[in-house]
Amino acid sequence: MRSRIVGTGSYLPEKVLTNRDLESMVDTTDEWIVARTGIRERHIAADGQATSDLALLASRQALAAAGLRPGDIDLIVLATSTPDMVFPSSACLLQKKLGIRHGAAFDVQAVCSGFVYALATADQFIRSGMHKRALVVGAEVFSRILDWKDRGTCVLFGDGAGAVVLEASAEPGILSAHLHADGAYADILNTPGHVCAGKVLGDPTLKMDGGAVFKLAVRVLEECAREAVEANGLKLSDIDWFVAHQANVRIITHTAKKLGIAPEKCVVTVDRHANTSAASIPLALDVAARDGRIKPGDLVLMEGVGGGFTWGSVLVRW
Ligand code: UT7
Repeated sequence: MRSRIVGTGSYLPEKVLTNRDLESMVDTTDEWIVARTGIRERHIAADGQATSDLALLASRQALAAAGLRPGDIDLIVLATSTPDMVFPSSACLLQKKLGIRHGAAFDVQAVCSGFVYALATADQFIRSGMHKRALVVGAEVFSRILDWKDRGTCVLFGDGAGAVVLEASAEPGILSAHLHADGAYADILNTPGHVCAGKVLGDPTLKMDGGAVFKLAVRVLEECAREAVEANGLKLSDIDWFVAHQANVRIITHTAKKLGIAPEKCVVTVDRHANTSAASIPLALDVAARDGRIKPGDLVLMEGVGGGFTWGSVLVRW
C-alpha cells in the first residue's frame, strides 16, 4: 500500500503588508528586501483569525479539489509552530471546524520543515494500513511571534496555510521521505518564550542568526536532494519540479544551481507571501498544481528546512 496526493489547497489572509508598508515601520527599503530575499509582500491574519481558521480554508479547497467530503478523512496531521492554544492541538480544532468526529488528529512541530515531516508521517500511517485518507496541513500565524521593531526578522515572515489530501493507492504517489534533525543548531533560530505558571517566561519573539541559517539551509537542501534521488535510483535531471521551503529566493536559486536544476523547474511563491514556515511548501505546491505546471506523471521534489534544526525531503510521482 502506498499513498498519493489527490487534492491541494491554500489560503492567504486578506490583509496584505507590502515592503513599502514596512518602510514606515522599520529602517528598511523595498529594494533591500527584494534584492536580499525576493519577498515583495506578505499576508497578515485578521485579529481573532487563528491557525486553525487558516487551515480550515486551505483544507476545504484541498477536499474540493479531491472531490471528497470532510467525513471521508480519517487522519489529520497539522504542521504548525504557532498553534491556536497550548492544547488541544490545532489539528483537533480543525477537525471540529470541519465537523469530523472520527479518526485521529494531531499536530507536528518541526517549524519550517513541518509540512515535510507531516507528509512523511501521514504517508507512513497510510502505508501501514492504519488510515486511508489523510488531510495534511501546514498553517501558521508567524506575524504573532515577530518583533515588529527588528528589521532583521520582521520583513521575512507572513501568515498562511496550505493543505493536501493524501489517499491510499496501489501505485505511488509518494516515492520516499527522508527526515533529519540536529538539535545542536537550536540557537541559530528560535522563539524562546514559553508559558509558565500563568506568565510568559523568556522572549516570545523569533530570534535568528540569518547568515548561519542561510549557509546551513543551502548545505542541507543540497544533501537531501541528492539523498532522495539516489534512494530511488533516479537522477537530479529527472526532477520536473523543485518545491523547496519558501524562505528566501536566494536559498532556492543557490541550492538549485548547486544541484544543476534549471531555474524554470523551481516553484517560487515567496515573493507573494514571504516565509510562512510550515505553510510555505503546500502553498507553493498548490499554486503550481492549480496553474497546470505540475502534470500527472511529473516528478516533484519537496524539501523543507527550519528551526530545530530540522530538514527533509518528500519525493512524489504526481
Ligand atoms: O525558514 C528558515 C528561516 N530563515 C531563513 O531562511 C533566513 C535565512 N537567511 C537569510 O535569508 C538572510 O541571511 C537574510 C535575508 C536574513 C539577510 O541577508 P544577508 O544578505 O545575509 O544580509 P546580512 O544579514 O549580512 O545584512 C547585511 C546588512 C547589515 O548591515 P551592515 O552590518 O552591513 O551595515 C544588516 O544590518 O543589511 C542590514 N539589514 C537590513 N537592511 C535593510 C538587515 N536587515 C535589513 C533590512 N533592511 N530589513
